[in-house]
Amino acid sequence: MDLALLVEQALEQVSGAADENALIQVKASFLGRNGALSSELRGLGKLPKEERAARGGELNVAKKRIEEAVAAQQENLRHASAEQQLTEAQIDVTLPALGLPLGHAHPLTLVENELIALFSGMGFEWVDGPEVETEAYNFDSLNMPSDHPAREMQDTFYVEDGIVLRTHTSPVQIRAMEGRTPPLRVFTTGRVYRHDSSTRHSPMFHQIEGFLVDDRVTFTDLKGTLYAVVRELFGADVKIRFRRSFFPFTEPSGEIDIWRDGKWLEILGCGMVHPNVLKGVGIDPQKFQGYAFGAGIDRIAMLKYGLEPIRVLFENDQRVLNQF
Ligand code: PHE
Repeated sequence: MDLALLVEQALEQVSGAADENALIQVKASFLGRNGALSSELRGLGKLPKEERAARGGELNVAKKRIEEAVAAQQENLRHASAEQQLTEAQIDVTLPALGLPLGHAHPLTLVENELIALFSGMGFEWVDGPEVETEAYNFDSLNMPSDHPAREMQDTFYVEDGIVLRTHTSPVQIRAMEGRTPPLRVFTTGRVYRHDSSTRHSPMFHQIEGFLVDDRVTFTDLKGTLYAVVRELFGADVKIRFRRSFFPFTEPSGEIDIWRDGKWLEILGCGMVHPNVLKGVGIDPQKFQGYAFGAGIDRIAMLKYGLEPIRVLFENDQRVLNQF
């Protein structure tokens, strides 16, 4: 075959290859094992000896020219595709930034913050207390006898003998009174634990506890304060009921219900601090009186936002949380 023509064809096809795949095919069709040039090279052996060297030289020159053309075209193609990427991926630096998705406080935290602001505004001091508590603080010092039903293993998580996960925030009353002298106005917020895994309850929930001790505290002070708090939380026109109740650490004791969806719903327990509790922390009940109250923060959040059941608050379902 005419070598010059072969080379001409090869160069034409190489420069016509539109992408790297096409180029690989063209290269194979000339330089590959079954390519046009390779069969010419194989034919060398059949030539008369005196022609072999000259023909061999020509074939090598042809091979080299094709190889160089392939390499050059490969370079062209790479360059072109880089160029294309640069023009297509243009960045408009004047566009506004997308911004980071921001989270926000959990509904329970929102309610807790609202309560903290409310009680701080009334002059109450916020204190913290341990969640792992002694039986003495959680029960005894709160006038709860050793045979009180709340102490049973079915109701209380025992960490070890004499140590419990606090079942309410009331032990914080004792800890706060031990380190202070009246007059005092203190409140706390935090987790409490009860051995109850029914679907409508959670074994862990949150309470707010507040108390005031001074020398002329009456039941009217308690009632007035709590009515103001409930109205602040649920609106001035909320229907409130004050109902008598019993707690070992308050006497008399009461509970507040609010009217919602055709029924009364309990939202907090309260009462005048029992004289035995005051005596236990060295405060003379003849001179001082106090009131105390405790409420479930989760319950307040559920009622405020219409969330139910309580576990909705702990599932962290974005569809729920994003509504706040
Ligand atoms: N500790 C009580 C409870 O968990 C609530 C309470 C607090 C009642 C303070 C009276 C006074 O149910």
